[in-house]
Amino acid sequence: MSATASAESTKSKRSIPVRAMGFAFREAAVPRWWFFENPIPTHISNALNLLFPDGERFFIRSVKHYMHVVENDPELLARVRGFFGQEGRHGHEHERYNKLLQEQGYDLEPFLAFYRHWAFEVLEKNTPPVLRLSATAALEHYTATMAENALKSDMLDHAHPLMRDLLRWHAAEEIEHKSVAYDVLQKVDPRWGVRAAGIALASASIVAFWILGARELLRQEAAMGTDLAAHRRAAEADPVLERERKHRTVMFRGAIADYLRRDFHPDQKDDYALARAYLERIGRLDG
Ligand SMILES: [Fe+2]
Ligand SMILES: [Fe+2]
Repeated sequence: MSATASAESTKSKRSIPVRAMGFAFREAAVPRWWFFENPIPTHISNALNLLFPDGERFFIRSVKHYMHVVENDPELLARVRGFFGQEGRHGHEHERYNKLLQEQGYDLEPFLAFYRHWAFEVLEKNTPPVLRLSATAALEHYTATMAENALKSDMLDHAHPLMRDLLRWHAAEEIEHKSVAYDVLQKVDPRWGVRAAGIALASASIVAFWILGARELLRQEAAMGTDLAAHRRAAEADPVLERERKHRTVMFRGAIADYLRRDFHPDQKDDYALARAYLERIGRLDG
């Protein structure tokens, strides 16, 4: 085995600990505009938070469908169990935060009902299991891409400390388990066409629901009397937000190009040390 292959094999054998966090959203008095003290970046981020709990339960269902394929591989089985545990905890914490949003006066139910209907009653039920798994692997690639940026960039320094902790913990764990769904897909159906179809479906879905969620939250924000035009101007004038906006386009283009390379594997990008460094800093490396 070459040194690179050996390093990769060690990486994928790394354990995926499940960490119960219990963030004190209420006690920490997370403000309505917790990101850059501006409703625009806050609601763009909130909209993604709205998608997480049900989306992550979908990831678990998509992989669970193939447990019979995983069961004879103890190493992958252990990582799959860690993946289920981590995604379950992410959904739980984001749901607790979403409750706080409701208490702050945002009515999340109409959007969530719309999202659940179209994503899970219509799309999921009419998509073959292998494509659901492939879309999950692609969405995991996107979350790992955003996670790397969240841990590397100074963007979260502009978030309320508790939201920063929530998002950095989530980001670190997304990196820890980033190759699990992909490895299951490789066992189930390694064809490039299946992988490409998965990222096409994943991209269209996440972009549509993310935009619709953000538009709905901003609509409600305007209805509360907030002058969104003034906040938009402030956001456009913020050098960190402007830099991130430009970087996001390059980052997602690069992520798609990487994912469509025939020999792609998530572990080719070794950002595990980034996740470990953060988890070590908060004293939660091992669980
Ligand atoms: Fe997650
Ligand atoms: Fe994930």
